[in-house]
Amino acid sequence: MREIKYIPFEYGDHILKVKFLKAFEQFLERKQYILGEETSKFESSWAKYCQTNYCIGVGNGYDALFLSLKALNLNKSAEVIVPAHTFAATTLAVLNAGLTPVLIDADDKTFNIDATRIEEKITENTNALIAVHLYGNPCEMNRIIHMCKKYDLFLIEDNAQAQGAKYKGQSTGSFGHISATSFYPIKNLGAFGDAGAINTNDEQIYKKLKLLRSYGSPDKHAFEYQGVNSRLDDLQSTFLNIKLEYLDEWNLMRSEIAHWYFEDLSELEEVQLCQQPEEILSANHIFPILVKERDPLRAFLLSKGIQTLRHYPQPYYLEQAFSKLGYKSGDFPVTEKICSNEISLPIFPGLRKEDVKYICQTISDFYR
Ligand SMILES: Cc1ncc(COP(=O)(O)O)c(C=O)c1O
Repeated sequence: MREIKYIPFEYGDHILKVKFLKAFEQFLERKQYILGEETSKFESSWAKYCQTNYCIGVGNGYDALFLSLKALNLNKSAEVIVPAHTFAATTLAVLNAGLTPVLIDADDKTFNIDATRIEEKITENTNALIAVHLYGNPCEMNRIIHMCKKYDLFLIEDNAQAQGAKYKGQSTGSFGHISATSFYPIKNLGAFGDAGAINTNDEQIYKKLKLLRSYGSPDKHAFEYQGVNSRLDDLQSTFLNIKLEYLDEWNLMRSEIAHWYFEDLSELEEVQLCQQPEEILSANHIFPILVKERDPLRAFLLSKGIQTLRHYPQPYYLEQAFSKLGYKSGDFPVTEKICSNEISLPIFPGLRKEDVKYICQTISDFYR
């Protein structure tokens, strides 16, 4: 039987193995482990890639969000608007920064934050908004930017799933005052462990973040801020520098795969696809479909050798860690529908057309 893994990992690693091994040898000789030249090189390249002036490499995507919020120095009563449908890390960063997250439901077509509902959640304490480009699809930036300007809000982008995506030709990660991303291994640009980065055009924020990621200290003896230790390792930067050169090519493959899925699944009325509006270029990090028969369909696909995942099986705001926010089941119906019905289909560079055809045919067989 054919076997299609959700993410086989091997593709990029296999092709680039020789380059990785050579780079590792050079890394051993260089003996620069933390904040060395490979990290500086990666920070410049990633800043340029995202069309921003500055990049600060940090330990992971969560820290990138947490430190971004810290850098803005919001007051303790500040409310930060976040999507109800995202990976929990987005909202955990707000809570751990001592701020109050205010949730907004997802849009039923794009599954991103419903930008038409931002205004009704604005209070005199609203200071910032986090736009998460979920599944690799840029949010409705026109409307979001308009709201941020109208109410003088800081805009933070959570770009963890949208590396290489564009909205009206502009790179995600370049719209906000600050943007955060993750290079967790399965991301479109993945490291060989935890890694993340922050982008900004603001020189003051950049300088502050460079200290915040390193104990708030310019030289290990003076401490200007109450910082943390969250630096991007030179070893991860070494590999990220190699992989970054392939990101556009790999994203193009992802686009092609998404296109095949759209072609074959749009006719199936039992399947709801996540719409990609014309003005976006998606990074297609995840390919979600919504079906009422989620568990039986997943089991059927697995019986035919097709692995799938779920993003995300349970709304995070119903989890114990978020109970103090007081949200309850039914508060965000679109988010809850997505969580109940979502299946993530395999999408990775190297997935062949015949495999996508097989997956779509299997879904169609299930409904026949
Ligand atoms: C939308 C989103 N935000 C934040 C994160 C956190 O990134 P990390 O796992 O590197 O901390 C992730 C990672 O999965 C994510 O998908």
